[in-house]
Amino acid sequence: MSGPLPKELLNELVAILGPTRVIGPGDALRRFGSDYTEDLYFEPQVAVLPETTEEVSRVLAAAGRHAVPVTPRGAGTGLSGGALPVQGGVVLSLERMNRILEIDEDNLCAVVQPGVITEVLQDAVEAIGLFYPPDPASRGSSLIGGNVAECSGGPRAVKYGVTKDYVLGVEAVLPDGEIIRHGGKLLKNVTGYNLTQLLVGSEGTLAVVTEITLRLIPLPRLRQTLLAPFDDMEAAARTVAAIFKRGIIPSACEFMERDAIRASQDHLGIRLPFAEPEALLLLEVDGNRMDLLEEARDQLCEVALEHGARDVVLADTDARQKEVWRIRRATGEAVKKLSIYKEEDTVVPRFQLPALVRGVKEIASRYGLTTICYGHAGDGNLHVNILKMDLGDAIWNARLPIAIEEIFRLTVSLGGTLSGEHGIGYSQKRYMPIAFKPHELRLMKSVKDAFDPRGLLNPGKMFPDAT
Ligand code: LAC
Ligand code: ZN
Repeated sequence: MSGPLPKELLNELVAILGPTRVIGPGDALRRFGSDYTEDLYFEPQVAVLPETTEEVSRVLAAAGRHAVPVTPRGAGTGLSGGALPVQGGVVLSLERMNRILEIDEDNLCAVVQPGVITEVLQDAVEAIGLFYPPDPASRGSSLIGGNVAECSGGPRAVKYGVTKDYVLGVEAVLPDGEIIRHGGKLLKNVTGYNLTQLLVGSEGTLAVVTEITLRLIPLPRLRQTLLAPFDDMEAAARTVAAIFKRGIIPSACEFMERDAIRASQDHLGIRLPFAEPEALLLLEVDGNRMDLLEEARDQLCEVALEHGARDVVLADTDARQKEVWRIRRATGEAVKKLSIYKEEDTVVPRFQLPALVRGVKEIASRYGLTTICYGHAGDGNLHVNILKMDLGDAIWNARLPIAIEEIFRLTVSLGGTLSGEHGIGYSQKRYMPIAFKPHELRLMKSVKDAFDPRGLLNPGKMFPDAT
């Protein structure tokens, strides 16, 4: 929407939340206009900070009465523009709904509000010997609600699964303000359609999730962390499938190409204990029996060396492990500092990773584009950052979408798809027809329409503009 917010709506929002939790135009509003996606910025007319489900419901009902769009928001760490208020209106931030309501040790689950910081939940459950594995790179600031909206993954997904694998139930508010509950502390549930899982990964386009029941598991206390440098990028990629074929399920199997390692090292001012390789695999196994872990570690070394690793280095102290993970977790931020960029989140069956890496490099070189690749190799999930560097605007703007389209066509031809864990949101929606046929997109749109017939909740996302 353009123009100012209807005066009556503003009055209603203040009546619901009080004046301090309604943020009108001015400096304080700016932070609600961007997320971690490129340099995109869309200013909303107002941002609101509800603290209860009832308040969320009343805000949505009020905005609906005035036909004003509402964009839900977590911490704004998303990488596909899901939290951007691209049509203005109201940003509904869940940051104040930040309580862990319950950690249930009998049923191994937690009930949380959406505004809990991922790492805060992880620390709280780890303190009593439990584990919430999903660990997006932004976990120090990302909110569980945002993780649910995007179905976040992270390095541990390769062994433990992604956010959806931990969400057992939700409370959510529909765009008209109605409150629904689905699922709960249940490990089995085939009662009707699985609305819980429909909402996971729906990027805040169907309903606003206000409470989440999460499965927990016992905490693995021991780990072995290895670095395997390769002088050939494809050899590193080929090693990945071989690891699983050998019967090892690592708790992390990450890939970084040379420029990703370099960017991270420069960004953090720390160095790995070997000369920069062409590519690196970061491998980890975890558990509670050191003898078993050492056996798995030795097998990992064997497979990596058999497939062309230059060496395998053990991160043998807590401090070294932390350093290695700092380097990996900082990669996204470090790479983005280098240049204007566009980030893709391709995912293929893991066996196809070498073909994807090779293909991405070939396409990029054909268009004269620089790419830096890294990601969750064990999941076949490759983050492809395309960097503008010193290319002129005209060339960049002309070539970039064509190259991305080719990369996505290749990804789909390998049995993969557009996004593994960052979502479609605003920045990838134009490419959806590469992954889905028109009737498939129409079916998805009819789900959106069933939840949000007036198209007021997080509009301008997920579907290409003409849909
Ligand atoms: C990572 C984020 C970008 O893997 O998904 O670092
Ligand atoms: Zn990632």
